[in-house]
Amino acid sequence: MAKSATTPYLLLANIGQLATMRGENPPRRGPALEEVGLVKDAAVLCGGGKIIAADRQREILRHPWLKKNRRKVVEIDCRGGLVLPAFVDCHTHPAFAAPRLIDFEKRIAGASYEEIAAAGGGIRSSLAGVRQATRRELSERVFTALQAMLAQGTATVEAKSGYGLTTEDEIKSLEAIRDAGRRWPGTVFSTLLAAHVVPPEYAGRVDQYVAKVCDEIIPLVAREKLAQSVDVFCERGAFTLEQSQKVLDAGRRQGLDTRAHVCQFTPSELQGLLAFQPASLDHMDCVRDEDVSLLARSETVAVLLPAANYFLGHREYPNARRLLDSGVALALATDYNPGTSPTPSMPFVISAACTHMRMTVPEAISAATINAACALRLQARKGSIEPGKDADLALFDVSDHREIAYWFAWNRCVQMIVLGQKV
Ligand code: NIG
Ligand code: FE
Repeated sequence: MAKSATTPYLLLANIGQLATMRGENPPRRGPALEEVGLVKDAAVLCGGGKIIAADRQREILRHPWLKKNRRKVVEIDCRGGLVLPAFVDCHTHPAFAAPRLIDFEKRIAGASYEEIAAAGGGIRSSLAGVRQATRRELSERVFTALQAMLAQGTATVEAKSGYGLTTEDEIKSLEAIRDAGRRWPGTVFSTLLAAHVVPPEYAGRVDQYVAKVCDEIIPLVAREKLAQSVDVFCERGAFTLEQSQKVLDAGRRQGLDTRAHVCQFTPSELQGLLAFQPASLDHMDCVRDEDVSLLARSETVAVLLPAANYFLGHREYPNARRLLDSGVALALATDYNPGTSPTPSMPFVISAACTHMRMTVPEAISAATINAACALRLQARKGSIEPGKDADLALFDVSDHREIAYWFAWNRCVQMIVLGQKV
């Protein structure tokens, strides 16, 4: 649906369970993640793209505004289903041209992600496709992914570049993301990931590539307002801590927010990254004990990406319990990308977080909604169903919120409301 078509007022009636996720001072930590703000037999009234009221249906039907304006309101019968705030997928890489089936087969045969990357596969094998693709072709790919995300309950998506790795191709990727976002009813937050890996033409000249990213690509992207944040892959085989700090520093100097992929395969000291007050640190599979309390004391959200562990065939998953029990603000995201996580499904991620990381269902839903909004610093608008916030809602044909994690790989989302519009 085009962004301009408008339904002024919507009433979602006959909601069996409404998980509002309302609460004070997000990001949520510790026991606060357990609160889903459950309302039974509920209704939600939306107008002007925002939530006007969300409460027991009895109360909503008595709302003075509704009594006066009933005829202006389009009603959706939720038939006893579950309504959640639409998911916020706070970490995705949708600007790629093709699936990576050769890597996939190699991994099935027993090779690891890092071995495949060292042999010329991995991220570098996605470069040729993106460099050859037109902006329009890439944008179609991004749009298809956004639509698949929407169909499974997501209305806000962080989308990274990172498979072009030339000035031109990173700009093209971000423009493709912007073009797709303009056609899509939801909200797209874009991130420059020119420091994803060192492209082959800079082999052996890593510092020169870092200088190009810092002195050329980041300033250009900031000037053109093509991204809201800068990301870096701080990992063995990608960028060192020192190089990563240069990238984040360059981003910050251009007024962009910062985030990093870190501790996916090897532990890294986090203090040097936390110094930039990044919005999020993502993956976090192998965080050192001494960094857990530092993280807990920071505003930075740790984004866990269990679908990547699933797809890489790992037995180990990030230790969510250790982070949660220490007071770290946790979020969940798909990491949608061609190498480690080709899924658009936040419900799958929630299910994996519960079954493999022992998160409770309320914790996982908090991590996929309000805390994920905090990872994009969008918590004032997204991630919970409260008056004044954007009316981004997902209706599921289940009667209990725990079913979101239970019916894995089964899409139970039957209706999306995005910025107050039925889509
Ligand atoms: O988040 N770790 C770095 N980036 C991606 C993988 C990208 C790829 O393999 O294409 C990730 O897992
Ligand atoms: Fe990623």
